[in-house]
Amino acid sequence: MQVFTKSAEIKNTPSLKKGITGFVPTMGALHEGHLSLVGKCRNECDTVAVSIFVNPTQFNDKNDLKNYPRTLDADLALLEKAGVDLVFAPSEAEMYPEPDNRVFDLGGLDTVMEGPLRPGHFNGVAQVVTKLFSIVEPQRAYFGEKDFQQLAIIRYLVKSLDLPIEIIGCPIRRGEDGLALSSRNVLLTPEHRAAAPQIYAALCKGVEMMDKASVNEVINTVRNAIDNNPWLSTEYFEIVDTASLRSIKQWSDAPHIQGCVAVRAGEIRLIDNIRFK
Ligand code: PAJ
Repeated sequence: MQVFTKSAEIKNTPSLKKGITGFVPTMGALHEGHLSLVGKCRNECDTVAVSIFVNPTQFNDKNDLKNYPRTLDADLALLEKAGVDLVFAPSEAEMYPEPDNRVFDLGGLDTVMEGPLRPGHFNGVAQVVTKLFSIVEPQRAYFGEKDFQQLAIIRYLVKSLDLPIEIIGCPIRRGEDGLALSSRNVLLTPEHRAAAPQIYAALCKGVEMMDKASVNEVINTVRNAIDNNPWLSTEYFEIVDTASLRSIKQWSDAPHIQGCVAVRAGEIRLIDNIRFK
């Protein structure tokens, strides 16, 4: 495994990449969720590239950026074990020698759910992902459905910019208690950590009642199941058309439907989602 901190070194070593290059962008503090993307990429591609970069332009909250876990040595050991060929772990100065003022058209997918609550977040994701794509030049890139809205936005971005990259969505990895794995889970207090599995339990309850209940009834039940826990509070729970991310009113409104939730657990925001149909 070769580790690079400079984009020019990757550009100047084309022999690094053989056959199909698959790419997994991350912000590090790696867990089994990230490693499931790496594993799928390893199975499907000749060369596996992973980036580790805590991208400041996508953090709308200074404290969140400051507290974000950073575990580079442990990350590199995990990636080596997973059979990764190339790691790109740049500094902030390397990625942003000058401020990035680009504003992306994200097709309105950034105006719902996480969008209004995290102003500039998805534009920052678009900035860093387009830079990483042009440095690594992969044929395929792997993203988790854990960040459902991000995945939809990346798909839109690649299409609208005509980038020759296939975007591959990967299922959510969960702990045995159902909590979606996330780098931020380690920041939860013991009380919030104990409460957090209630989020997925509530989503499952919503899916189970779908045949017998209206969209509104499901929304209320899921929200209440979360908010009845004193350690959790729902920021939003939306049942959306998978393609447009717009809220639906009836189950027949869209062919594919996803329920997406954001929950505050003390200082930490947790997001999760589930497929309704
Ligand atoms: P990060 O949160 O580190 O996640 C990197 C990738 O791992 C994302 O595609 C995310 O959806 C996926 N992932 C995280 N938890 C997962 C889980 N439990 N199951 C499956 N996949 C999971 O997402 C980002 O970083 C950044 O926004 C990034 C795309 C790297 C741009 O900075």
